[in-house]
Amino acid sequence: MKFINIKDSRMPALGFGTYTLKGKNCEEGVEDAIRLGYRHIDTAEMYDNETEVGKGIKVSGISREELFITTKVWYTHLHKDALINAAHQSLQKLALDFVDLLLIHWPNDSVALEESLQAMMQLQEEGKVKHIGVSNFNRKMVEEARKIAPVVCNQVEYHPYLDQSKLLDTVHENDMFLTAYCPIAKGKVMDDEQLRAIGEKYNKTAAQICLKWHMLQKGVAAVPRSGNHERRKLNLDIFDFELTAEEIDQICGKQGDKRLINPAWAPEWN
Ligand SMILES: NC(=O)c1ccc[n+]([C@@H]2O[C@H](COP(=O)([O-])OP(=O)(O)OC[C@H]3O[C@@H](n4cnc5c(N)ncnc54)[C@H](OP(=O)(O)O)[C@@H]3O)[C@@H](O)[C@H]2O)c1
Repeated sequence: MKFINIKDSRMPALGFGTYTLKGKNCEEGVEDAIRLGYRHIDTAEMYDNETEVGKGIKVSGISREELFITTKVWYTHLHKDALINAAHQSLQKLALDFVDLLLIHWPNDSVALEESLQAMMQLQEEGKVKHIGVSNFNRKMVEEARKIAPVVCNQVEYHPYLDQSKLLDTVHENDMFLTAYCPIAKGKVMDDEQLRAIGEKYNKTAAQICLKWHMLQKGVAAVPRSGNHERRKLNLDIFDFELTAEEIDQICGKQGDKRLINPAWAPEWN
């Protein structure tokens, strides 16, 4: 496993995404993921599955200290009281005393960023949240956030078809890390001939090659999601081989602007 150091703690760089996992499927999926070796779980208030994520964690029997749990506050809850209330509800649903990372899920320009980040810092001081961060922030927003609070992360869409090199530069300049969501482009990488060809050399799938590419980048984490035991296992099984510089260049060379997630409330991306 690759780890990302965050102050005095560390986060496994490969986490388990839970968006769209619901009910028993989510509970059993999280339990299974932890049994397979995942120690970083990504959820959100908006996913409406924190109760099941919490149950999966509990049933797994793994001690809390070994896990890194991220949740997110929805962008309509960014005023101070709403944010604090949302975080408390998340903790209650997850049945946890604290989360390791709390993110602003999407920016919202109708609420002063300072108000939201101050509320998150208050939760941090109270021990309810170990680290704070943002998601779906553009470069300017990252810089603004970093001036206000010790945000450690920006979680954004990132895969071989979406160039995030400028955002990565900004994140690194601000001593933060980037967590890739949709890291395997929602499964689309499986149809990529070039990734498949690289995979044949190492006896790995295109998705595994793609996740390895993420892991080989400085300050990059990834949270692939699968509702299937075998694919969860495959996505974790990427730490027994390397990619050559030429292969990494080939994958980087694909990058364009194929964004898969772009809702009406998204910010200007550049
Ligand atoms: N911050 C945000 O705004 C935001 C937005 C989107 C997502 N996220 C987070 O990022 C996580 C991942 O993103 P995502 O779920 O949208 O996309 P993803 O992880 O790139 O792709 C998930 C899709 O790929 C398939 N898949 C998974 N592993 C595979 C494998 N080894 N081979 C072939 N297909 C595979 C899954 O199908 P099966 O289930 O059938 O395996 C699923 O359809 C989410 O779960 C969520 O935690 C955050």
